[in-house]
This record gives sequence, structure tokens and C-alpha cells, in this order.
Amino acid sequence: MDDAFEKKLMDKIEPIYKKGRDGDWDHILRVVQLCRYLLEHENGDEDLVLPAAYLHDLGWTAIDFSDFKKADPKVKSDSQSFSLHMVQGAVLAGKILSELDYEIGKTQQIQEIIKIHDLPEKVFAMDNISATLVVEADRLDRYGKTGMERFKTMFGKDKIYGPYWEEAKQLRRDGLKEWFKTNTGVRLSQELAAEMGLFDD
Ligand SMILES: [Fe+2]
Repeated sequence: MDDAFEKKLMDKIEPIYKKGRDGDWDHILRVVQLCRYLLEHENGDEDLVLPAAYLHDLGWTAIDFSDFKKADPKVKSDSQSFSLHMVQGAVLAGKILSELDYEIGKTQQIQEIIKIHDLPEKVFAMDNISATLVVEADRLDRYGKTGMERFKTMFGKDKIYGPYWEEAKQLRRDGLKEWFKTNTGVRLSQELAAEMGLFDD
């Protein structure tokens, strides 16, 4: 992905993200940085990984996600908007990449990743390192101090206390075993989990 294309892509999507979930544009920028880091240490096609990272959460901007916001951490993935954001995200990604004349074959692969990006087991079954890195980077942003800040921005400052936060912490502990496949992803997830105190109690 060359600099000129990246700039055009960012100019197009930043205003769209800013109309979506609170904090999502900053999340996207962190996920892109995490992808760059993973790509330094793991294989993967940056022409798939980076555009997919930029575009993966666009679906949230096109739907009503109040059910997702309201649901308890453990059952957020059962909400209708959770499934819908992946479908809508793939559609929007296809539209934007075609407007920017991105290669059709790559565009389709990016859409395939976005369509299932929040279902790690399905992504890992693709056995595609580029898809794996997108999932790892996205999930890594749930960890560390920034992961906690993001959680507060999305769900409310009061949500990092009490049973709600305990449930979210347990999901992240379980996620350490389920969401990371590459050596780099596993190592970084452990470091960030320690940083946010997941092993303290
Ligand atoms: Fe994401």
C-alpha cells in the first residue's frame, strides 16, 4: 500500500468513522499500527492487512448498535448489530476500495476478512496469515492501558468497576488462549494483559 493511496483512503474514511462509535477512529489508527508491528515479525500481505485494518469496523457507522452497547460483555457477540456490522463493513469496504480503483482480487479478499473479522475461529480456519494478523491486531487493542481507555470510551467510565468489568476481564483472560495464533501476537497479548492487571487477582 503506497503512501498516496493510504492518504486517500484515510481522507475518505476518517469523517465516516467519526460519525460512528465513540473512539473508533483512534481504535483504527492503533490497529493499523499493531498490524505494521505484526508484519515486521510475521508473514502477511500488507496490501491486504493494512486496508482491512483501516476498513474493518466501518460497518458500525451504518447501523444502530444500541443493542450491542446495552448487552453484558459475555453476550455482546449475540447481539444483532454484532453480526450486522461485519456484513455492512464488507459492503462499505468494497464500495470505497472500488472508488479508489483498488485491485479487484485484493478487494474481494479484504471483504472476505471483514465479513468474519470478529469471529476468530472462522478467520483462523481460513488458514490465511493476512487474515490472522488483522484479527490479532484488532483483539490486541482490547488489552493494555489503551484497551482499558477504549472500553471506558465505548461503554462508560463506570464500566471498569464491579461485575461488568470482572466479566470483561474474564473474557480477555479466555481470549488469550483463543484470539492469538502467531508468536508475535501471543507474546504481545501476554505483555498487554499484564499491563492491564489481568493476572493480578
Ligand atoms: Fe476493530
